[in-house]
Amino acid sequence: MRFDPPAAELHIHIEGTLEPELVCTLAERNGTELPYRDIDDLRSRYEFDDLQSFLDLYYATMQVLQTEQDFADMTAAYLERAAAGGVRHVELFFDPQAHLVRGVELKTVVDGISSVLAESRERFGVSSSLIVCFLRDRDPAEAVTVLKDLLEMEAPIIGVGLDSAERDYPPQLFQEAFELAARHGLRRVAHAGEEGPAEYVWQALDVLGAERIDHGVRSLEDPELVSRLAEEQVPLTVCPLSNVRLKGVPSIAEHPLPELLEAGLLVSIHSDDPAYFGGYVDDNFRAIAEQFSLDAEDLAQLAKNSFTSSFIDQRRRQELL
Ligand code: HPA
Ligand code: ZN
Repeated sequence: MRFDPPAAELHIHIEGTLEPELVCTLAERNGTELPYRDIDDLRSRYEFDDLQSFLDLYYATMQVLQTEQDFADMTAAYLERAAAGGVRHVELFFDPQAHLVRGVELKTVVDGISSVLAESRERFGVSSSLIVCFLRDRDPAEAVTVLKDLLEMEAPIIGVGLDSAERDYPPQLFQEAFELAARHGLRRVAHAGEEGPAEYVWQALDVLGAERIDHGVRSLEDPELVSRLAEEQVPLTVCPLSNVRLKGVPSIAEHPLPELLEAGLLVSIHSDDPAYFGGYVDDNFRAIAEQFSLDAEDLAQLAKNSFTSSFIDQRRRQELL
């Protein structure tokens, strides 16, 4: 399972690490009725036509997350699996709005996840930090409220991100939330150019001040944008298995990773929602290494890019590089 060289995981939604076994365990523990007969029935639904069809299942299964312990168990299970695959640093996304709408309190979510992150170095040998993602298909004012609440409770977040359904939800809708984040010294990232157009990548950079773009593969449709990304070495967190499973690209063979690298972009490899897309970061590395005949040097460069693109502190960076 272990894949060398070690890497940083920068594009990972904690709710997307909820494996079918854990979904069933938590459902039983909490007495949650699920519309699936068993684990195999649930697993058989992990076939997607696009981002929205995945999100429908993603938001449905997370209803098993009810207590602080549930969030802690999910986080610990993820860190254990990530460490086994060679991950040494994680910047973890979470989607508080997806829990708030189900009546789960913000404190339950934050305390459950952060209690495990606080000991991730000692328990798993993985340094970690937390990034709150705003759901772009919900009211932008709600994002501002959630961020204010997180700031008020002094939640241990290092940054903000933007995720969920991309088409028709341009980044500029979230300008206010991102400006508030910047005023509080938080880092800024955003999903853009996954299903949405290259224009959304421009907006993420110029309106939201995003320092890193999640996915960004559709940037290749705009040569001027590619030049900008290359010149400024804006990191792109690319998730090959996710792109294939959500039918953004037809196959790993047709994944634009070689073009992105050829254009001189700062690309690193990540897993997005590994429980749903057939693989953790090591599986993503294995898939591209095999497909594109990458050698040890190519893989070491991609792994190095993950640390370069991270928000890791200087001391830990030196330890890991
Ligand atoms: N894309 C957009 N939003 C998401 C994803 C994704 O792959 N996973 C969880 N939220
Ligand atoms: Zn993502």
